[in-house]
Amino acid sequence: MPTNHSVPMVKVAMPPRERLMPALEQVLYSGFVAEGESVYEFERRFAAAFELPVALAMSSGTAALHVALLMSGVRDGDEVISTSMTAEPTNIVILQCGARPVFADVDPLSGNLDPDSVRALIGPRTSAIVVVHYAGYPARLDELRAIADEHRVALIEDAAHALGARYGDAAIGTLGDYGIFSLQAIKHMTTGDGGVLTLRDGSRADEARRLRWFGLSKGVPRTQVDIATPGYKYNMNNVAAVIGLMQLEHIHALIDRHIANGRYFDERLRRIPGLEVTSFEPRARPSYWLYSLLSEDSDAVEARLHSVGVAASKLHKPNHLHSVFATMRRPLPNLESYYRRLTHLPCGWWVDDDDRERIVDALTRG
Ligand SMILES: Cc1ncc(COP(=O)(O)O)c(C=O)c1O
Repeated sequence: MPTNHSVPMVKVAMPPRERLMPALEQVLYSGFVAEGESVYEFERRFAAAFELPVALAMSSGTAALHVALLMSGVRDGDEVISTSMTAEPTNIVILQCGARPVFADVDPLSGNLDPDSVRALIGPRTSAIVVVHYAGYPARLDELRAIADEHRVALIEDAAHALGARYGDAAIGTLGDYGIFSLQAIKHMTTGDGGVLTLRDGSRADEARRLRWFGLSKGVPRTQVDIATPGYKYNMNNVAAVIGLMQLEHIHALIDRHIANGRYFDERLRRIPGLEVTSFEPRARPSYWLYSLLSEDSDAVEARLHSVGVAASKLHKPNHLHSVFATMRRPLPNLESYYRRLTHLPCGWWVDDDDRERIVDALTRG
């Protein structure tokens, strides 16, 4: 990704120094830097901020996804319907469970899973569907939820790109049996590295807590506790949690700016001949981590924006093109079309009114 543009594609959001540094200093010298009260406070506030039934703080979005797959019963030899149009962790964790991703095709105008393709691929070995809200645009959750229910398989929302997005009355991440968020450096919100797992069935939260901590129950003396199922070291620590707590103080303002920019682009760019904006259902409210623009000449769109100092590019390689997934390749004509036509534009809180006008002007003239 080019880094010398005056408007970068992504930017790390940090709370104001005068708020963050005293809080960090306090936790760093408190003697309690591992998982503790700051983590639990972060979980409560994150759940409240994003209307989640429960939020479990993890070391990464990848860790959250791994636990979600295990909680869904994904095991050796299983199949998980997934998308190739995502960052690699979505599908690598499926392999780590001993399962195989079965790549469904996407909607060519959104890059998100096409429910008809998902339905056609469900088989006796399917144990879960992983849906990604690519770039922050909600996928067709109603249909995917219905398919999962009909076939009694788990629906996992990989909402790594979609913090703050909504689907109808529901917060993103709450229509799946599990939802995960990434708090990695360049997402809407970061704790340095980190992730959050949410569960529809809150009564299973302790099971997930044990999976994130070796299989042990926290709060039970180490000499008395018993590991029945091996878990991982996937917990968040107090230092990351304090960064997260500070981030929560301004996260809605940042996400609102992503959304305002995204809506501005939707409105202005759809009128330019040769450009097509990403489609989503009327009930979906994207949180526009990146803006995804479609055209017949994505190279020309990129070059045009680069010429005015704006980063523009594709961001991920469709996962099935990696050799580790070679045996799982299947025809994905809509994905090919979407990917060929795709250019991501910067859309976040750092894109000011002048920048977005410059972007629209450049594309109008291009
Ligand atoms: C779609 C998607 N899923 C999962 C992840 C994993 O998140 P993390 O980097 O926090 O492990 C990422 C982040 O890169 C992602 O983009």
